[in-house]
Amino acid sequence: MPSHLTFLGCKLVSGFIFVCLSCCSYPGVMADFTLEVTTGSMSYAGTFDHLYVTLIGTKRSSEHTQLTSEVESEKMGTYSVTTLLSLGCLLLLKLEKDPFHESPEQSWYCSKIVVRTPEGDEILFPCHTWLTRGGVVFLRGGRATKVFEDGDPRLVNQRKKERVQQKLTFKWDEYEEGLAYVLYIKDPRSIPADIRYSYEKAFQVAYFKEAASAVVRKHGLNNSTDRWESFEAIKAVSWFKQSPIAEYVSEHWKDDDFFGYQLLNGVNPFVIQRCSKLPSNFPVTEDMVRPFLTSGNSLAAEMEMGSIFINDYKIMEGLPTRVIDGNPVAFPAPLCLLYLNPEKKLKPIAIQIFQQPSEENPIFLPSDSETDWLLAKIFVRNADAIHHQLISHIQNTHLLAEIFTIATLRNLPKVHPLHKLLIPHHRYTVSTNILARSQVYGKAGVVVNTSVGYDGGIELMRRGLSKLTYASLCVPEDIAARGLESIPNFYYRDDALRLWNIISSFVKTVVAYYYPSDSEVSADPELQEWANEIFYYGFLGNHNSGIPSNFQSVEEVIKFITMVIFTSSCQHAAVNLGQFDFQGWVPNAPFLLLQPPPKTKGQSNMETILETLPDKLFSGRLMAIVWQVSRKYDDFVPLGTYPDQHFDEPAVLQMIQDFQAQLSSLSVAITKRNSELELPYNYLNPTEIENSVTS
Ligand SMILES: *[C@@H]1O[C@H](CO)[C@@H](O)[C@H](O)[C@H]1NC(C)=O
Ligand SMILES: *[C@@H]1O[C@H](CO)[C@@H](O)[C@H](O)[C@H]1NC(C)=O
Ligand SMILES: *[C@@H]1O[C@H](CO)[C@@H](O)[C@H](O)[C@H]1NC(C)=O
Ligand SMILES: [Fe+2]
Repeated sequence: MPSHLTFLGCKLVSGFIFVCLSCCSYPGVMADFTLEVTTGSMSYAGTFDHLYVTLIGTKRSSEHTQLTSEVESEKMGTYSVTTLLSLGCLLLLKLEKDPFHESPEQSWYCSKIVVRTPEGDEILFPCHTWLTRGGVVFLRGGRATKVFEDGDPRLVNQRKKERVQQKLTFKWDEYEEGLAYVLYIKDPRSIPADIRYSYEKAFQVAYFKEAASAVVRKHGLNNSTDRWESFEAIKAVSWFKQSPIAEYVSEHWKDDDFFGYQLLNGVNPFVIQRCSKLPSNFPVTEDMVRPFLTSGNSLAAEMEMGSIFINDYKIMEGLPTRVIDGNPVAFPAPLCLLYLNPEKKLKPIAIQIFQQPSEENPIFLPSDSETDWLLAKIFVRNADAIHHQLISHIQNTHLLAEIFTIATLRNLPKVHPLHKLLIPHHRYTVSTNILARSQVYGKAGVVVNTSVGYDGGIELMRRGLSKLTYASLCVPEDIAARGLESIPNFYYRDDALRLWNIISSFVKTVVAYYYPSDSEVSADPELQEWANEIFYYGFLGNHNSGIPSNFQSVEEVIKFITMVIFTSSCQHAAVNLGQFDFQGWVPNAPFLLLQPPPKTKGQSNMETILETLPDKLFSGRLMAIVWQVSRKYDDFVPLGTYPDQHFDEPAVLQMIQDFQAQLSSLSVAITKRNSELELPYNYLNPTEIENSVTS
């Protein structure tokens, strides 16, 4: 294949046949290019500074042409660039912002430039970048290319420079030993403009935070380390207006049916698994549970039939805990056995609060006193809430999404097809995590007030990462490994599997379009390095995780990219959106318990429970933060919508449309299903899922 045919402006028609659209036939005479320049729609995207453009072709470059003296937000300007002689093939578009200007600096956000060539072809040059005074960017347009498809040395050179620059801008940093690496920037003001929150988003984040703490202050919760005097008192200050589900939870949190329900359809459906054999440290006997097995079968028979499940929080055993007044708070690692009864309700039938069985660690049963049984369930809820936030939410969605983002920014240049595919799924993620480090899991975050404190939280995430497997991040494998294929009323599973399949078929069409054979995959060093950095910086080179450190086949790439998009969008929605719903009622997700669990049965009463729950100050902070982080923002971008255009190929634009159509029919099906449920499960409705981790 002659190398000049792969230059920009040459589009792929089918397979490997390139047709040159903008350069080859055109004679060396004066030519007009028309440029349609679009400025971003966010506030302060426009500028009064002078802007210049230069078209760089294979034969020569155009004049350095001034665009205008003013561009405004969301406005599109049309400009022409005239050249006396043919440029040859159009390779690059150079954009510059005047270094000298008397007015105060105003950055410019350029969304895209569409160039109409003298032959009448329209070529998209995606930009999606802030230009500051004196800034220069080189844009590539048209078809996405892999590095070995860039023929012209100027393209090769420009691509290399972009990667060097990106690696300098987005450096890795070890946050804590044994955790995934993060971006090295700590101060939100130093975040590079292109990945920083928009003015509107930053404003709304601050607004929600202030609104929540105003409610906390209004109820006097900012100033009282008293315990709660009654559940009515908690109810009186819980602001549930915006969440019928939170209200429902406050009424049903003690019910065994609801307890089982939320292990499947709450915010943490990742611990439950089918139990075909009791762990040796959980000596539940037939006699203990016989009264609760309503089918009349033995426990052994029920285990065989697949109707016994278990939540085992072994990963929390022996964690460092918070110390209050010199005393470490109790933080057990419970085991909870569940039974799926003939009415298809999942109910807890036995709870052991610590891992090691002993006289002082009895197995609690539904037939114990109401408050003993409730206390046992509260200890499970506490462990589950902390597991949810630190492992399922922060470690397995926020931090993984940050790894994927940094790896993309560093290794895949803007013209790379997988950069174009992934970048919308990385929006705001790093900024969100920098905020989460300061407010949630950092040394000044809310984690320090939970049962595990900062050190226990970090240790838990470290354990979580060391056990994290590729299979557990891929929904079909995860569901099968936990034996949950057929448990009824498991809406997380039903929706997540459908989403996984829809994303996978979309990714398959896009990846197969750019990588027609396995040899293209192995020949792409940028893609290989992307995978390798994820493996080393995200999974710390742990081969036991099953995470690939390189790709040999198109199939492997499809699966991995599916996992990346699913994790950054759907999985995060599943753990994020229901936080206020399921954790806004503090007794259902206490995060801190101030009394140790009972060592013997029959000693507790409602007082004991109120003494055990968090104080008012911490309860207020919890309610505020879970409310704040599950808000929907005005600039929410739903899954599969791509307001920033990156792809120019009609075939790929069609694939995106097909993807959107699939998502919208899934949304209709979920809405219909929900209308028939007592408690709707809407966290994985495509209209509610955001493209990326943004809160
Ligand atoms: C709690 O809020 C009240 C009312 O806004 C305020 O006067 C008080 O200083 C706050 N107390 C603390 C400890 O922040
Ligand atoms: C905050 O606590 C202090 C000390 O207990 C008390 O004097 C003050 O009245 C409280 N303020 C409010 C707003 O509750
Ligand atoms: C969190 O813990 C810190 C340190 O023990 C304490 O100063 C702070 O008041 C606590 N905050 C809440 C909301 O409990
Ligand atoms: Fe989140």
